[in-house]
Amino acid sequence: MNYKITLLPGDGIGTEVVSAAVKVMKAAAEKFNITFSFNEQLIGGCSYDKHGTPLTDDALSVCYDSDAVLLGAVGGYKWESLPQHLKPEAALLKLRKALGLFTNIRPAKVYTPLLSASTLKPEVLEGTDILIFRELTGDVYFGEPRGYDEEKGWNTMVYTREEVVRIARNAFDVAMKRSKRVTSVDKANVLDCSQFWRKVVHEVHKDYPEVTLNDMYVDNAAMQIVRNPRQFDVILTQNLFGDILSDIAAMITGSLGMLPSASLGTKYALYEPVHGSAPDIAGQGKANPLATIASVAMMFAYSFQMNKAADLIYDSINKTLEAGYRTADIFSPGTILVSTAQITDTVIENFNLIFDEQALGVFTL
Ligand code: IPM
Ligand code: MG
Repeated sequence: MNYKITLLPGDGIGTEVVSAAVKVMKAAAEKFNITFSFNEQLIGGCSYDKHGTPLTDDALSVCYDSDAVLLGAVGGYKWESLPQHLKPEAALLKLRKALGLFTNIRPAKVYTPLLSASTLKPEVLEGTDILIFRELTGDVYFGEPRGYDEEKGWNTMVYTREEVVRIARNAFDVAMKRSKRVTSVDKANVLDCSQFWRKVVHEVHKDYPEVTLNDMYVDNAAMQIVRNPRQFDVILTQNLFGDILSDIAAMITGSLGMLPSASLGTKYALYEPVHGSAPDIAGQGKANPLATIASVAMMFAYSFQMNKAADLIYDSINKTLEAGYRTADIFSPGTILVSTAQITDTVIENFNLIFDEQALGVFTL
């Protein structure tokens, strides 16, 4: 089997974390007898510098022609004062919309060796495993009209029935395979759009009688995630609220540098770390590649249905952390500070080790 992968490293540390993740992909491909053909394209500020636009039609058509897209990060101080439609972030939004990636999945799961890396207490975090379903192509992010003039600025929060139904179904389907609990997060006490969201989510819920559904206002949800994260399993929420809550939830994993994501539509899929381009540490070998490597694990699971390979990648990350290896963002006294390349090589060594052990186990049975 050969898979076509579009690589969009982007700006800042994006290039470092994507090349680290590609090394892991190659190692996994070798063990699992598949091959990848990679096609690398520009996105974000680097594309603007070269072509005057943060995403060219050519780059987009390469994405359309691939089995999965792996993205690093976009943005940087250099491009902050550009008009909205030329900013690096605009490319990411365009890409999500063009590929129809309406379901964004962000797992906030605690890695036991990192319990003390978070600013939150270990006893609060222990055992937390949250899956955030963030709607990704609607809401104020895309609603019209939008704009600003000298006197006012405005955006439109809007959802259609179809937009709510399709993400709700995806969340309920996955909840059925987990602990059958969904928390739908909205701001229905104030916003009409959220009242509609809530009404439609409850209609969809009728098809999933085994799933327990509760509603929560977003302000309360933000507080509850840091107060008692274990109460959550699947969180289903609007685009804007999901953006904010997933950064909060990142602290469960110890660092934003640990949080992977999958963005799925009916035809295309994109995988990216939740963190940004971190221009202050770019090019210094300090970036944490683990969120991008975990995004690759999600790619194996969701795009190639290779759950075994995905689990092995997660296990290798865990084993690496257990051995004490840390990039600067998750470093604590008593652990071993390593570079992007060193931690990646260790993940790969562990991957090969666990694979060979398991293969041998099967052989000697
Ligand atoms: C994210 C980011 C993006 C978003 C930005 C970079 C446009 O914060 O993926 O969470 O707001 O969706
Ligand atoms: Mg965000």
